[in-house]
Formats: sequence, C-alpha cells, structure tokens
Amino acid sequence: MRPDELFADDHRRRVAAGLQRTLRTVDGPQDAHILIDGRRVLSLCSNNYLGLANHPALIEAAIAATREYGVGAGASRLISGSMRLHEALEARLAELKGTDGALLFTSGYQANLGVISSLVGTDDAVFSDELNHASLIDGCRLSRAAVCVYRHRDVAHLEEQLRTTAARRRLIVTDSIFSMDGDAAPLAAMCDLGERYGAMLMVDEAHATGILGPRRAGLVDALGLHDRVTVQMGTLGKALGAFGAYVAGSRSLIDFLVNRARTFIFTTALPPAVVAAAAAALDIVAREPERAAAVSRNARRLRSGLRRLGYRMLGNDDAHIVPILIGAAEETMALSQALFERGVFAHGIRPPSVPDGTARVRATVMATHSDDDIDTALAAFAALQPSRGPVRTAAAYLER
Ligand SMILES: Cc1ncc(COP(=O)(O)O)c(C=O)c1O
Repeated sequence: MRPDELFADDHRRRVAAGLQRTLRTVDGPQDAHILIDGRRVLSLCSNNYLGLANHPALIEAAIAATREYGVGAGASRLISGSMRLHEALEARLAELKGTDGALLFTSGYQANLGVISSLVGTDDAVFSDELNHASLIDGCRLSRAAVCVYRHRDVAHLEEQLRTTAARRRLIVTDSIFSMDGDAAPLAAMCDLGERYGAMLMVDEAHATGILGPRRAGLVDALGLHDRVTVQMGTLGKALGAFGAYVAGSRSLIDFLVNRARTFIFTTALPPAVVAAAAAALDIVAREPERAAAVSRNARRLRSGLRRLGYRMLGNDDAHIVPILIGAAEETMALSQALFERGVFAHGIRPPSVPDGTARVRATVMATHSDDDIDTALAAFAALQPSRGPVRTAAAYLER
C-alpha cells in the first residue's frame, strides 16, 4: 500500500467509527471566553483552571526574563549550563512540595516517560491504575518492566498484584486527580501498600497542582503525605498557566534523574520565558487562595445544575473536571457539537482516550468563570437534555 492509501484507509476507518479528530483554530489567548473557528464561545475545555494563562503578571515575567536571558535555553542543561532561573524555580517547587529537591522537565509527558523508564527496567515491575494518563502508560511501556495494571482506584487489586509479583524493584504509578474522570486516587492506602510491599510510589499531580491542599501543592499536600511519596510529579502548563513540568523528591532522586532520565538529559531546557511565568504563577497561587476556592465553587454550581437536568457525572461534587458520561462516541460528539452551536465549548472525549463505551463530554471549570458563565453553560445543557440514559457499558462504568 502506498503511504497516501494507507493514510486514507486509516481516515475512512476513523470516520466510520466516529473517532476522527480535527483541530479548531483559536485566535487570541486562552481565557474563560475564547475566539475559536471565528466564534466567541464560553470555554469549558481548558486546563487553565486558575485563569493564569493570560494573566498580566505572567506575561510581564515572561517578557522580563526574555529580555534578560534571551528566548532559548540553547541546549540541555547538562550541555550549555544550568540557568539560575531554572534553579530558582526548582528551589521554590521543592519548598512548595515539602521535598529536598525538584527538577524541571520540558513537559509532563516527557517527565513521565523519563522518570518511569529510569526508575524501573527489565526484571522490575510497575503497577499502574487502568485509567492513568497516556504519558504514564507510555512511560511504563518504555521502561520494559513488567506492567501490572490494576482496576481503577482498587487498592485490594493493587495489593493482590504486589503480593503475587516477584520483582524486587517495584514502582506504583498513579494520577492524583484522574484527568478524564476527575476522581482522586486513594493515596493514603497506596502509601501503606508501597511501604508494606517495598514499592516506590509516583504521583502525577498534573490536575491538582495549584488547586488542592493548604498550600495548593496538590493532593499529596491535601493529605499531608509528602514524606511517604517517592516521586511527586506535576505540570506547569495547566493551573499554573505556563508550560513544562517538575518532579519533586529527595536530593538523591533528583541526582539520579539528572544522570538517568533520558528525557531530561537529551532535550533542550525550558525557555526562560516559561520558567519565569511559572514562578510568577506560584506567587499568585500563594497570594490568592480565592482562585482555587472559586474553581471548586464553580464546579459545585455546574455539577448540581447538571444533576438537576438529569446528566450523569463522574467524580465528587467539587471536582473541577466534570466528565458528563454519554457512552457512545457519536452521541458524545453530537452533544459537544450542539453545545458549540449554542456558544459553549466542551469537548467530547472518545476512545482511545477513555475506555470503549464510556465516551463523555469533559467540562472543566476555571476560577475566572462567573456565575453567569456557569448558568449560560447550564442553559445550553438544558436545551439538549438527555432523552435516553447512558448506554449500558457506561452505566456499568458508573457503578464502579
Ligand atoms: C495526568 C497528566 N499527566 C501528564 C500530562 C502531560 O502534561 P504536559 O501537557 O505538560 O505534557 C497530562 C496532560 O497533558 C495529564 O493530564
């Protein structure tokens, strides 16, 4: 088959299965309202939870850092030198996370690939929640360790796998707040298991950094577990409004990763502008706790309204990721499109991002959504009220 035939064939299959994805063009910044495909819509799609991606303080910090340090970092930090700016942000992140050290990565995806593949290898075992983010899944695959997938948030199943797996070096990996489900990993019980069965624990705080906990450092912070988690990973491109990622842990972990994590060693460091913007975001997170509070408040308003309308959701009441379970991919995409036509942008999420039969509209709320914004969204959902319940597979999923 010629390459073009191969691509066209794959395209036909995707379209037939309702799985074709397309890009929509945005003009202007990411905010509560965005201009997309020429239309101004309310965005319920962004991970820019605190509304910082277009905040003047981040913009000014990025401009100032660009003037002082230039645009590019030049090379990997092991090659062209480690800019003081990166080191200062790492020190702040370590302080925030209650660890001895932290290390920046160029994205969350790369952090997860690099950390997992350096912590475990052939002969080792990695234990992974079945609904972990794709970057954790890919990190497990890349590591070549035996991958033991346990049922979503099921500590008994995790324990059974830890008990029956012989490998001596073991790593448990989990999202803290699950990206497509909005629910939380049972971290305290997972720490107990890690300690009992001699396994390291890695927690991906991509969706909790900046939001949860007394210091808004994440779920580990909320539960006071920073001494018991081996690796706290998180991103700078979601609630913190910038770009990139960090790993926080002991000094020896950071030294190990500097020497072993190929996605740290063999890639150009983050540009000064985004490092400075992320630092400015941390100032705001510390200074304005009301932003995180607004995220939960908006989540509760949206969720209670949707529940009244008969929609079924995953996750607890104040979870800022609001997955509205539909079931079939086509129905999900039709709802998403109909919402868009009513001025509300909420993405449909289909397999392979979520298990078959559990397609959903994933709405996310931001601190910068007003009550009126949430009510506008609810009015659009009301006009499209579900006539039928979720399909059977989705219903079974809900019961778990
Ligand atoms: C749980 C989780 N981990 C990692 C990532 C990857 O982070 P990044 O976008 O910085 O690559 C994402 C989303 O993008 C995510 O949702």
